[in-house]
Amino acid sequence: MASPKLHVLFCLCCCLTLAQPFSWQDPSSFVSSTSSALGRSSIPRGNGSYSVGCADLMFDYANESIFLRLYYPSQGPDHLDTIWIPNKEYFWGIAKFLETPRILGNILNFLYGSIMVPANWNSPLKTGEKYPLIIFSHGLGAFRTIYSAIGLDLASHGFIVAAVEHRDGSASATYYFEDQLAAEKKTKSWLYLKTVKRDEAERVRKEQVQQRAKDCSQALSVILDLDLGKPMKNILGMEFDVEQLKGSVDRKRVAIMGHSFGGATVIQALSGEQRFRCGVALDAWMFPVRDEVYASISQPLFFINSASFQSLGDITKMKKYWQPDGRKMITIKGSVHQNFADFTFVTSDVIGHKLTLKGDIDSTVAIGLSNKASLAFLQKHLGLHKDFDQWDPLVEGENENLIPGSSFDVVTQSPALQNSSGLHRQK
Ligand SMILES: *[C@@H]1O[C@H](CO)[C@@H](O)[C@H](O)[C@H]1NC(C)=O
Ligand SMILES: *[C@@H]1O[C@H](CO)[C@@H](O)[C@H](O)[C@H]1NC(C)=O
Ligand SMILES: *[C@@H]1O[C@H](CO)[C@@H](O)[C@H](O)[C@H]1NC(C)=O
Repeated sequence: MASPKLHVLFCLCCCLTLAQPFSWQDPSSFVSSTSSALGRSSIPRGNGSYSVGCADLMFDYANESIFLRLYYPSQGPDHLDTIWIPNKEYFWGIAKFLETPRILGNILNFLYGSIMVPANWNSPLKTGEKYPLIIFSHGLGAFRTIYSAIGLDLASHGFIVAAVEHRDGSASATYYFEDQLAAEKKTKSWLYLKTVKRDEAERVRKEQVQQRAKDCSQALSVILDLDLGKPMKNILGMEFDVEQLKGSVDRKRVAIMGHSFGGATVIQALSGEQRFRCGVALDAWMFPVRDEVYASISQPLFFINSASFQSLGDITKMKKYWQPDGRKMITIKGSVHQNFADFTFVTSDVIGHKLTLKGDIDSTVAIGLSNKASLAFLQKHLGLHKDFDQWDPLVEGENENLIPGSSFDVVTQSPALQNSSGLHRQK
């Protein structure tokens, strides 16, 4: 670590990343500090009572294949040996996303490539129970593996979580196999982030969100097929035996969650897919959501927002979704957009603040509030028989670190106006 050469690399790395402005909608504007190399990585373990397993699954070939990371209740004993970001190409994708040279990707790979997530890689599923299912959609410039603090916690509370990797050009990087031969030879075809010109952004993003919603429906179909015992091959050929999923999914209890572009995907997916009984949108990016979509959603929907990302226009758009009881909105005080992705846990405080990967609120407290509120909401709307209702007050924003509705409700409105336009009361 102390060699002069490495020191130069670290400086280069930090300079490059600091020189790069972070556009607000990208969850993976990570970036680097030396903290992980210094052993400060700490993606938190789930709080629930189940051990958590993790496996990557891919079905079918070429660009239409389905790729997801599964977090699930597993059998012990714990070995916690899941690699967080398993290929250097993802770091190259991040470098591209940040419009920096590929060498930055190599440096990031060096710094972050060996970080582990506290989950048991390919451990057998804990059988004998039917688990509710959550499909999770990542943000722009992100990919399937970087929301593990959420996936792990939900799985530790008895959910199966399928974090999809989108192939619409919105992931920093993703790969597929062209055909069976390529899969056998492990010849990956890599697909990097598609650059989108400003004047095309609206059209492209609105197309992408539809593709993303379709990806989520397809991932759901695959898992329900596995639950029925349909023979399917995980073409990644990993040790996790997909036949274990037979009879393990609580087919009627399915929800969708996502962050940022993934939050937009939640809204889009709910409108076209009744199998999703409810949705949780984490700091949703409203730009790609067509105005009329709200009219075609009947399911309960929960907006969990950071304190700094949404404009008044976005909040107004979100409020169109409001309905008594089934629709909720809370804001986590002192949080930033990146508080939902794992990068907030792997950077030091100083770098994390500088790059707005961390907010004023402790990252662990923020994700804890988000996870607990999500669990309470899911229990209510999926009809679960657990004890997550202990966190019902969080869904109403009742906590010193939460605001019911949005920051605008508090800052810009008198109590009288809140009565008529605060989300929690608005008709
Ligand atoms: C997959 O590739 C084909 C041919 O290159 C293309 O026509 C199609 O639109 C692509 N599908 C997706 C989902 O990107
Ligand atoms: C677990 O619970 C603690 C205490 O409420 C909280 O601070 C923490 O963030 C939770 N962890 C996760 C991963 O949700
Ligand atoms: C406040 O809300 C109540 C019930 O929602 C309504 O009857 C009343 O007219 C509202 N008052 C104002 C000032 O908007």
